[in-house]
Amino acid sequence: MTDMFSIKGKVAVITGAGGVLGGSIALSLSKAGAKIVVLDIRKENIDRKLEELKKQGGEAVGFVCDVLNMDSLKETADKIVAQWKQIDILINCAGGNVPGATLLPDQTIFDMKIEDWEKVTQLNQTGTVFPCLVFGKVMSERKEGSIITISSMATYSALTRVPGYSVAKTGINIFTKWMATELAQKFGDGIRVNAIAPGFFIGDQNRAILINPDGSYTDRSKKVLAKTPMGRFGDINELNGIVQFLCSPAASFITGAIIPVDGGFSAYSGV
Ligand SMILES: NC(=O)c1ccc[n+]([C@@H]2O[C@H](COP(=O)([O-])OP(=O)(O)OC[C@H]3O[C@@H](n4cnc5c(N)ncnc54)[C@H](O)[C@@H]3O)[C@@H](O)[C@H]2O)c1
Repeated sequence: MTDMFSIKGKVAVITGAGGVLGGSIALSLSKAGAKIVVLDIRKENIDRKLEELKKQGGEAVGFVCDVLNMDSLKETADKIVAQWKQIDILINCAGGNVPGATLLPDQTIFDMKIEDWEKVTQLNQTGTVFPCLVFGKVMSERKEGSIITISSMATYSALTRVPGYSVAKTGINIFTKWMATELAQKFGDGIRVNAIAPGFFIGDQNRAILINPDGSYTDRSKKVLAKTPMGRFGDINELNGIVQFLCSPAASFITGAIIPVDGGFSAYSGV
């Protein structure tokens, strides 16, 4: 019997794969036998990740690609198809917060920098929609594929201080459901689109807001942990299982889902 969780030989395109979450997902899918396409806007991030992937013994290629630029995405899709003929998996990890769209503790919403609001919306919404259009179209030709978008706990209820990021990620939720519906209705049940909603993981983008320079937890960290039934932050590698599952035949009837990976944060009222 074939392994229902197998993704062996699948071609997996990961945007932002030079970053913290995308990088961990890349290494994990590679260990499971997928061929990895590392996309990032920063060449140094790509080179570092390719070296790690090759050390692990996996097949991988990398391209500098801007998720906000349709021409860059289309050129990249052509190169991938020329090399590996198809695209089976797309993981949209390029994204994140933009400092000026985060309010300092003594600021109000009226202090938010408008240009940073626009940047955070662009990066998170357009930066997911465009890759889904370009790589999803390649999948639509074979009527087969799995797309994963990255949502956030900031879409379940208001998280103070991050208005732009919260609104942008909430757009990802409805886009995921919309795209799942569209692809299933027009191209059949072989292309699935799902989101994962990570809880709190310490990454480069949120370290300063969660960890003091002396290594202790900030007041915000303590509030997060108090509302997390498991009482701890996530380990970056704890997203990898759900990603592989969603890309595998085991998830063949799952589309349009938004799956929290949050130690119970979204389940708990805090009281
Ligand atoms: N770290 C967390 O706790 C956490 C929690 C919830 C959601 N997320 C989300 O997960 C995703 C990945 O987060 P991360 O912590 O790995 O971020 P990261 O900053 O470590 O990685 C993001 C990567 O995307 C690349 N990138 C930026 N702009 C790009 C563009 N225009 N085109 C192509 N690549 C671009 C960056 O160079 C970087 O390598 C983001 O969407 C983030 O919002 C993270």
